[in-house]
Amino acid sequence: MKGIILAGGSATRLYPLSKAISKQIMPVYDKPMIYYPLSALMLAGIREVLIISTPRDLPMFEELLGDGSRIGMKLSYKVQLVPNGLAQAFVLGREFLNGKPGCLILGDNMFYGQHFGSMLREAVESAQKGGAVIFGYEVADPRAYGVVEFEPIAETHELRVKSLEEKPAEPKSNYAVPGLYFYDASVCEKATNLKPSARGEYEITDLNKLYLNEGTLKVKLFSRGFAWLDTGNCDSLLEAGNFIATIQNRQGFYVSCIEEIAWRNGWISTEQLAALGKEMKTNYGRYLERLAK
Ligand code: DAU
Repeated sequence: MKGIILAGGSATRLYPLSKAISKQIMPVYDKPMIYYPLSALMLAGIREVLIISTPRDLPMFEELLGDGSRIGMKLSYKVQLVPNGLAQAFVLGREFLNGKPGCLILGDNMFYGQHFGSMLREAVESAQKGGAVIFGYEVADPRAYGVVEFEPIAETHELRVKSLEEKPAEPKSNYAVPGLYFYDASVCEKATNLKPSARGEYEITDLNKLYLNEGTLKVKLFSRGFAWLDTGNCDSLLEAGNFIATIQNRQGFYVSCIEEIAWRNGWISTEQLAALGKEMKTNYGRYLERLAK
């Protein structure tokens, strides 16, 4: 499976912070925001990733991550001229996916918790067999998100999706849909045929509804101990940074360290990991060297 990170948009809710630079390149504690969604794809075992951003910001991501070979990956880049919807990722990414299944993650979505890797790998397997997998995460106020309503399927551990709505004024459940989606090979075809919504965007929720109507949409729930963090405004950005600092300083393990994941996945050698660490005169660099030892 291949992956797409959508890292465009204008992030006006972070102005003036984001006036001249991309939100997804901003620091979340000690690393650029895009490291977090990139590491989620890596944990899913996805090695080939397309990064989509604005004409202004795309060169910065290229400078940051290059062709990915330093971490044993293959990264490519594509401009989105107008931020007219998340589902456009699969119109812009059509050539890249080349008829293969695809995973989309939003460049400002951060995930952290136990069993994340195994949940991701199960979602990859499921979407490879056909259909789509989305996730549900209980939040106090889901009105700013896509919202999924579901019911248990008797005598199984599966859930049946009953409805999906984008930013409903009166949500039918408290389960928000995080910006992480797994699709089968029909996704580009489906995305190409979507019509813009009332607010003029090609909605990811409308794409998911096509799978729902087909009866092939699965939802998996993140448990209450799991963190899905928001970075939409200055407060949530600061909170996300503090969260990462707290976990890292307490445990000594880094969160979403792309070099570490590449090494644990067997995509780079211990020598390569040590060399990457040596380049950085920071605690981050020392961490990589320590792992290599
Ligand atoms: O974060 C999860 C939510 O993301 C989902 O629950 C919603 O269903 C989904 O529509 C989306 O809602 P948002 O209101 O957060 O979407 P937003 O327009 O803020 O875009 C999310 C990120 O994607 C943001 O960092 C900007 C980027 N983006 C957005 C659009 C519309 C692009 O790169 N290109 C785009 O065309």
